[in-house]
Amino acid sequence: MIKPSASPRKRAAALLAWYDAHRRDLPWRARPGERADPYAVWLSEIMLQQTTVAAVKGYYETFLARWPTVEALAAAPLDEVLAAWAGLGYYARARNLHACAGRIARDHGGRFPQSAAALRSLPGVGPYTAGAIAAIAFDAPAAAIDGNVERVMARLHAIAAPLRQAKPLVRELAEAMLPAARAGDFAQALMDLGATVCTPRAPKCGACPLSTECAAYAADAAEAYPVKEKKAGKPKRRGAIFILRRGDCALVVRRPAKGLFGGMTAFPATPFDRDAPPEAWLDFAPCPAKWRALPETVAHVFTHFALDATVFVAQTTSARPAVAEGRWAARGDLDKEGLPTLMRKAAAAAGLL
Ligand code: ADE
Ligand code: SF4
Repeated sequence: MIKPSASPRKRAAALLAWYDAHRRDLPWRARPGERADPYAVWLSEIMLQQTTVAAVKGYYETFLARWPTVEALAAAPLDEVLAAWAGLGYYARARNLHACAGRIARDHGGRFPQSAAALRSLPGVGPYTAGAIAAIAFDAPAAAIDGNVERVMARLHAIAAPLRQAKPLVRELAEAMLPAARAGDFAQALMDLGATVCTPRAPKCGACPLSTECAAYAADAAEAYPVKEKKAGKPKRRGAIFILRRGDCALVVRRPAKGLFGGMTAFPATPFDRDAPPEAWLDFAPCPAKWRALPETVAHVFTHFALDATVFVAQTTSARPAVAEGRWAARGDLDKEGLPTLMRKAAAAAGLL
């Protein structure tokens, strides 16, 4: 049984209390009571995009010592910034960093905009980074939703849909949880919780401040969330292949140049570009005859679909090929006809190969 949840605000309070006791000591974090420097927050958040906390620490301190203000960074030659960035990877981020510093210095009087929406328009600042800067630098009530936060929300609420579909819901739930004050601490508390407690594997629910309110934990299924996307199975199609025998020969046709088995030799068949329902199969037989379905179907997996084909066999004594583009292929020559694999399987099922 999943307990009815406490109010989102109570959860936020529990998380903030945990953060006060367990927060990671990171160089870009203002000490409790101190104001964060927006430039330092922005610099750290850009560096932390796609790079680990451990890798960023040294670079962050080097950059801040060398270019202590956004104006100093804007005035630096791009080459020097790129050289100092070497090792952090993704040079586009360093170019954007420099471009963004220029924009702030020239167009914004050296001051970062305070809302997530305005921050979002800066080079290199996506929705997550905009939310993080707004919350951490300005205590604006903004959610900073990255993979960690998505995982925590998916577990807290046992979200049944995979993340690709659940993103709007995750945002709604994360925003509902925002506290009235300390938005920056709250954002970083969620980051720390995701990084140290609510980890992808083996989350430490026993040490989690939200465990009494967590639906996934209540169901003893933390690791089952976020729910994985089902691998889209290939669409399944059915069809039929017709093997018309005349003595020791079988009727073969040349497939149209375009489409499946283009230009290849094959037995007559239903179209395979769509699912052919059984009641329509005999419409595609090369001629009326006593068609007998083999008990075992032949299966073949194509790039975009999986086919299950029923093989029909019939005998004829007519010397004329039953269809205009058909010819009689001797059983002993079938091997050299270059039949597609599916058709070889059908021939084998009919005892011809
Ligand atoms: N990852 C991205 N931003 C972070 C921050 N401010 N603290 C810890 N990890 C982070
Ligand atoms: Fe994550 Fe476990 Fe905490 Fe739930 S109780 S939020 S699964 S660490």
